Amino acid sequence: MDRYAVFGNPIEHSKSPLIHTLFAKQTQQVIEYGRQQPDANGFNDAINTFFIEGFIGANVTSPFKLDAFRFANELTPRAKAAEAVNTLYKRQDGSILGDNTDGAGLVQDLQRLWGELNGKRLLLIGAGGATRGVILPLLTAKVQNIHIANRTASKAQQLADRFKKEGAITASGFNDIPEIQFDLIVNCTSSSLDGGLPEITPSIFTNASYAYDMTYKAQATSFMVWAEECNPDIRTADGLGMLVGQAAESFYVWRNVRPKIEPIIEIVREML
Ligand code: ATR
Repeated sequence: MDRYAVFGNPIEHSKSPLIHTLFAKQTQQVIEYGRQQPDANGFNDAINTFFIEGFIGANVTSPFKLDAFRFANELTPRAKAAEAVNTLYKRQDGSILGDNTDGAGLVQDLQRLWGELNGKRLLLIGAGGATRGVILPLLTAKVQNIHIANRTASKAQQLADRFKKEGAITASGFNDIPEIQFDLIVNCTSSSLDGGLPEITPSIFTNASYAYDMTYKAQATSFMVWAEECNPDIRTADGLGMLVGQAAESFYVWRNVRPKIEPIIEIVREML
């Protein structure tokens, strides 16, 4: 039986084993999927042992995505762009491929919810690893332009500079966001985890159609509630679909079969 696991610390509450077990059932594949919690400095030893023991793929989450990026023998373009790896795959020749499926997970979920992304004007809030991981996949989905706004403007500017060869991308702090109409606003910060909000002008929502929060909770997140207060016509969603979407893309990398994410999102949602 093909064996996989998710690596993180802490990992006890990871939904990946559940999601991949549901994918396997849905697509009639037989796999085993566990969880592993190396010590903060123990990723390399743990992942080496893992592949020697015959496992063939891993998901990697916080705090090991950079360790996994360094561990891989070869990287996909989207993993290089993200500077982080969330999916490892042992190929026939024994080499380890490092991929990053987070951005594809977001793109898949946005398309599922609100249709194609081509021509859309996007505002991304935040300029950390979560933002870096989704820029190339969003540009590849042919969005018209991306503006990155971050509390610390210089970090947003660095990201925009890095990706400007790939598409139309601009940056600013929170106080000087250009007064253009954004179609879709994505909160890439973790501000909603503790019920907080990015300190940004509410006018960004006035003419926007969609607001997406990468964080998810059992109830609507603080960012979703705020977006709806600012614009009652706006449509909102949380990041549970992105989580299931990135898992589906990993499953596809490993098994060359694409699971349907919607029924799995529904099952996981009911368990939140
Ligand atoms: P991740 O890898 O999850 O993206 P990160 O690399 O630590 O995490 O980046 C977090 C991002 O969210 C940063 O852009 C941070 O802003 P700063 O660069 O100014 O620190 C942003 N962030 C986190 N909490 C925030 C909050 N409450 N309001 C605004 N921005 C926040």
